[in-house]
Formats: sequence, structure tokens, C-alpha cells
Amino acid sequence: MFRDRLEFVADQVGAHLDAVLADYPDQPVVHAMRYAVSGGKRLRAFLVVEGAALYGVDPARALNAAAAIEAVHAYSLVHDDLPCMDDDDLRRGLPTVHVKWDQATAVLAGDALQTLAFDLLSDPATHADADVRVDLIGSLARASGARGMVYGQALDIAAESADRPLTLDEITELQAGKTGALIAWSAEAGARLARADIAPMTRYAAALGLAFQIADDILDIEGDAAEVGKAVGKDAAAGKATFVTLLGLDGAKARARDLIDEAIGALEPYGAGADTLRDAARFVISRRS
Ligand code: IPE
Ligand code: IPE
Ligand code: MG
Ligand code: MG
Ligand code: MG
Repeated sequence: MFRDRLEFVADQVGAHLDAVLADYPDQPVVHAMRYAVSGGKRLRAFLVVEGAALYGVDPARALNAAAAIEAVHAYSLVHDDLPCMDDDDLRRGLPTVHVKWDQATAVLAGDALQTLAFDLLSDPATHADADVRVDLIGSLARASGARGMVYGQALDIAAESADRPLTLDEITELQAGKTGALIAWSAEAGARLARADIAPMTRYAAALGLAFQIADDILDIEGDAAEVGKAVGKDAAAGKATFVTLLGLDGAKARARDLIDEAIGALEPYGAGADTLRDAARFVISRRS
């Protein structure tokens, strides 16, 4: 079953991250890093591992890349929750890092999680060929930075005080950055590890990433905080620009369903071997947390 498989990969990647951080200094910043990388659905790691399997890469060989993307994702969440960003107290059902420690520790833990990702990718265990490692490092740097996740986050914050509502194209660009870029890297990493063409996975991930963020925006409205593990009802209050504000709940749900059909369609060249990734696409809009 899909959820068992997701849980299996989540446990493996979690154990790998624990092992990597085991001999780091016994310091609050490291405790905060461990805390920030624990839990979560691990969807991005799952996409790395399953994408690798699709290209015949041994899933165990994909663990460093899977851990790297979870480290960047965790960093993005720690900073996203800071008072100067979304100002959230709850993440994955627990107090956010700046609440449990303090803001300085949260900033530093996020910084160190980001650099940890590139440290992991540079490790020969990631791939024997240094060119492949450099490709993974460069592509993750681009996906994370001011043309990728950071770009989307900056647009997201700017939209809160914009003097007019964002257009559909503008919201699409915002979400493709803040959420889409890291999801795309995750889905493409397996092809990169196999030195294969990433194009079919890019098409899959573009639709998947948008649908994922639409589902996140819908959960902010329809979700239950205890189940979602983070505060709900905050996007509208903060004046966030989302597909739901523009299309309404039903319109956003219809758009998400179309995007999932598109994602599944993009997997056609892979045949039945991509069934787990098809299940992942369905999961993205059916999830309740
Ligand atoms: C939350 O991501 C932040 C967004 C990009 C919407 P996830 O919903 O994947 O968070 P975790 O990792 O499962 O907690
Ligand atoms: C966060 O988007 C995206 C990143 C951290 C890059 P949101 O602000 O919508 O995520 P949640 O709802 O806090 O998880
Ligand atoms: Mg945010
Ligand atoms: Mg947030
Ligand atoms: Mg959200």
C-alpha cells in the first residue's frame, strides 16, 4: 500500500538523518536541527527515492540525496515559521523551533540545515562520479535560491501588503517558486543520479508541485489544526495570495484535480513502473495533513 511505502521511506530517511547528525556537537543549535528534521510526511524524500528506483538506481544509494532535500525543506520551514515571516507557533504538531528555543537558534539551525544538504550531496556516497554530485549540488542551489524557493517566499511575503490582488499567473509563479522548486528537484534527482533526461519528471513535478500547494492552501481553510499539525485559518487573515483566494474552494479543488491528471499523464512514458509516483500524485490532493 502507498502509505506503508511512504512510511517505510520516511523511517529510512529519518534514521539516515539521525545517523548523520549523531556526532555533531552537543549544542542547542544541533538539538534544534535534529528537532526540525524529524517528523513530516517526507514526500520530497519519497520522490527522490522512488524517482531513483524508476531509473534503476538502488534506493539505498538515493538516501543522501533524499536526506539533503529534507534538510533544505526543514530549513525552509524553520525560517517560514519565524515571527518576521508567517509567525507560527505550531509545526508537525509541536512548538516551532523559535518557540522551543529562540529566534537566533532558529535562524542558525535553518542556516546549518541548508549547508548540511550540500555537504551531504558532496559526499562520494551520494554518487561515485563527481560530475553527478556537482550537478545535484548546482541544481539544488538553484532550486533553493532567489530564482526558486526563496523567490517564491519573497513573493509570498510581498503579496501580503500588495495594493491589488495577484493575478492567476502571478500566484502560479509564486507557488512554483516557494513549493514547486524543491518538489521539482526531488522528482528530478533520480534521473540526475542515473545521468538520464530529466524532462518527463520535470513535467510531472511542475503539475504535482502546484497541486501540492493548492492542497496546502485548502487545508488551511478546511483542515483541523490537530490533524494538520499546524495552525489553520491563517492565510486569509494574513492576506496571503493563494489559488483559493482567486478561484474559491471549489475552483481550487477542480484545478488541483486537473493538475493531478496532468502529473499522471506525464508519467506515461514510464508505464507501470511509475505506479508509485502516480499514487503519490493522488495522495497529494487526498491527504488530510
Ligand atoms: C509544508 O510542506 C510546506 C509547504 C511547502 C506547503 P509539507 O506539507 O510537505 O510539510 P511536512 O514536511 O510534511 O511537515
Ligand atoms: C511554505 O509555505 C513554503 C516554504 C517553507 C518554502 P506555507 O507558509 O504555506 O507553508 P505552511 O502552511 O506554513 O506549512
Ligand atoms: Mg509561508
Ligand atoms: Mg507558513
Ligand atoms: Mg500553508
